[in-house]
Amino acid sequence: MGVVTSCLDIDENKINNLKKGIIPIWEPGLENMVKRNYEKNRLSFTTDIAESIENASACFIAVGTPPDEDGSADLQYVLSVAREIGRNMQNYLVIITKSTVPIGTAEKVRAVVQEELSKRNSDLDFDVASNPEFLKEGDAIEDCLHPDRIVVGTDSDKAKEIIDRLYKPFVLNGHPIIYMDIPSAEITKYTANAMLATKISFMNDIANFCEIVGADINSVRKGIGTDKRIGPYFIYAGTGYGGSCFPKDVKAIIKTADENGY
Ligand SMILES: NC(=O)c1ccc[n+]([C@@H]2O[C@H](COP(=O)([O-])OP(=O)(O)OC[C@H]3O[C@@H](n4cnc5c(N)ncnc54)[C@H](O)[C@@H]3O)[C@@H](O)[C@H]2O)c1
Repeated sequence: MGVVTSCLDIDENKINNLKKGIIPIWEPGLENMVKRNYEKNRLSFTTDIAESIENASACFIAVGTPPDEDGSADLQYVLSVAREIGRNMQNYLVIITKSTVPIGTAEKVRAVVQEELSKRNSDLDFDVASNPEFLKEGDAIEDCLHPDRIVVGTDSDKAKEIIDRLYKPFVLNGHPIIYMDIPSAEITKYTANAMLATKISFMNDIANFCEIVGADINSVRKGIGTDKRIGPYFIYAGTGYGGSCFPKDVKAIIKTADENGY
């Protein structure tokens, strides 16, 4: 059996457009997929959080985490959603952080949700989990349906059971769901992006060196890419890394390390 999904955003314009099949980002294949599932009532869009989480068993927080002035990830949007969940939830939920967030965020989400439940004198049960996203923009559907791996941090068997059920169709290709503790899952995403950014920066430095000494970086790349320990991916010299994630995530891991005395 499939899964019924409700998408929540505070941006009314975005939600109204999505209901009409207008996609706010460029992502090949997404328009057809959204229209098909919306028409079959498997997918809905709303700005009403109570409606969105009613009878749900899992809830993904996937809001932005832009860099703060000091480079740290700004968690105000993540924690604001967590607060709204705590104010509105009516049944058990596993609350899963999908946004790229620094170590300790799932615990902050847990504390905020608990605080709101306590204000309501509610003893509702809930769990938190971390499930970082590794998709590439422009290739999101393929990366989502056929992921190299799914990383999940959780300390709850009940949450694990729900997440297993959700992701089972996506790992029929044999690629694993890798379960771990919550802090390890949070740090895995930053480590992946920092490693990819490092590969690009390193090859650009070698390219500069090649220019000085009269060597060809593309030959060097082929020469090292055939080494299984290095591999052929992400070692192309270019203008440097950009995009929405690498610069902010590199800054955030440096800031988090700094805050933890490393
Ligand atoms: N874009 C990517 O390729 C990618 C890949 C991996 C991870 N991520 C991570 O995913 C997160 C989201 O990235 P994005 O590119 O989708 O950001 P985005 O800015 O495009 O979208 C975030 C959405 O959250 C909505 N929002 C803000 N506050 C809200 C609230 N309280 N309730 C409901 N909705 C709210 C905003 O209106 C916006 O539409 C970031 O942490 C990012 O690092 C992004």
